[in-house]
Amino acid sequence: MSDRFPPGFLWGAATSAYQIEGATAEDGRTPSIWDTFSHTPGRTADGDTGDRAVDHYHRMREDVALMAELGITSYRFSVSWSRVQPTGRGPAVQLGLDFYRRLVDELLDHNITPALTLYHWDLPQDLEDAGGWPARDTALRFAEYATLVGAALGDRVERWTTLNEPWCSAFLGYASGVHAPGRTEPAASLSAAHHLNLAHGLATSALRSAMPARNQIAVSLNSAVIRPRSQDPADLEAVRRIDDLANGVFHGPMLHGAYPSRLFADTASVTDWSFVRDGDLRAIHQPLDALGLNYYTTSLVSAGAAGSGAARADGHGASAHSPWPGAESVAFHQPPGERTAMGWTIDASGLYDLLLRYTKEVPGLPLLVTENGAAYDDKPGPDGSVHDPDRIRYLYDHLATVRRAMEAGADVRGYYLWSLMDNFEWSYGYGKRFGAVYVDYETLARTPKSSAHWYAELARTGELPE
Ligand code: NOJ
Repeated sequence: MSDRFPPGFLWGAATSAYQIEGATAEDGRTPSIWDTFSHTPGRTADGDTGDRAVDHYHRMREDVALMAELGITSYRFSVSWSRVQPTGRGPAVQLGLDFYRRLVDELLDHNITPALTLYHWDLPQDLEDAGGWPARDTALRFAEYATLVGAALGDRVERWTTLNEPWCSAFLGYASGVHAPGRTEPAASLSAAHHLNLAHGLATSALRSAMPARNQIAVSLNSAVIRPRSQDPADLEAVRRIDDLANGVFHGPMLHGAYPSRLFADTASVTDWSFVRDGDLRAIHQPLDALGLNYYTTSLVSAGAAGSGAARADGHGASAHSPWPGAESVAFHQPPGERTAMGWTIDASGLYDLLLRYTKEVPGLPLLVTENGAAYDDKPGPDGSVHDPDRIRYLYDHLATVRRAMEAGADVRGYYLWSLMDNFEWSYGYGKRFGAVYVDYETLARTPKSSAHWYAELARTGELPE
């Protein structure tokens, strides 16, 4: 097997607005659901919030210079909706747009391809107060926001992503409640999923009209790789059920124009799906230029009562409420093997399966690994340097797997390491470090870890070291 990646392969790093920007009350920005949620006692570890985060809003130039130093050729970031259109309605705030314009220009000056995500979980609080994602109007508001950002930045950003991991927005936000807005309403979570799908479709059409035709539009899904505990038909049926709720509920409408056939029956005790209107599926099913896949680990399921442990064993945070509406008959288990600091089992073979699955399912659609990485308890040594051999091994194994999948026919155009730097890991707060760059949360000093130097060398040579 060749360990060399093709020329032009994107060597990326990723972040998102709420996780890094800080400056939550500056230049007209108003609260998003994550501001409200993180300021609610008991919602995040140690009460951590994104108020300051890693202060990227004020250190943007320094951060782009660091990316350039590390040989990153593409940077995936997200736009804070509340910065650009604070109430989720009406005209854009120029100061908000200007920040992203400056960021993009700085990236282009350093030959770094910007990859812009419109929505990485931070809904303007006003829109949540009006019903949030379970309300149809939020999808229409999203298309309007997409038009504003597309018209402002479409001349200089070619790579666009509508939504990041809509599964988390719908099911962690509205079913298990471990993410903002913290609601635990199974029926609302399915209506949220549908309106996120609709938001994606409407925004894709809106962007096509607002931007030059050369621009590429994608979506980033956290497609789950679900393994059965045995080959028993009941366990295989558990896999099918969770696969529909984790994957098919989004890629069905987005890529094929239909929900999985058994999803309605599986969730009949929860909702009648009357929020799906005529014409919605046509609106959702828009041609895409690439599919983004975020991959971290695999899941292991069997038939059996979920119990309250289900939400815990699936790796998505502690809650007495399951993020899987209607799947009370499925049990989650910890897959065997070594784990990262998140407690997620390391299994690079899942990434291979995922890339080949979509290669088969949507032939001809280019793929991007829009997130992959690992949290470890990194600590600076006496000389201030940070050695993270576990992360290097994780990255090596997953990148070797990407290469293997490419040899087997997967059309993978780029890889984005999660994350460029340590940041606010949602309900886990600052305790979980995913960065290739270490951040000292007292001084906010940035120190590239050994994995960052390793990745820089890879980006420079395009070849995985022995
Ligand atoms: C998925 C999300 O997109 C990102 O925001 C998060 O920090 C990483 N995974 C790690 O959990």
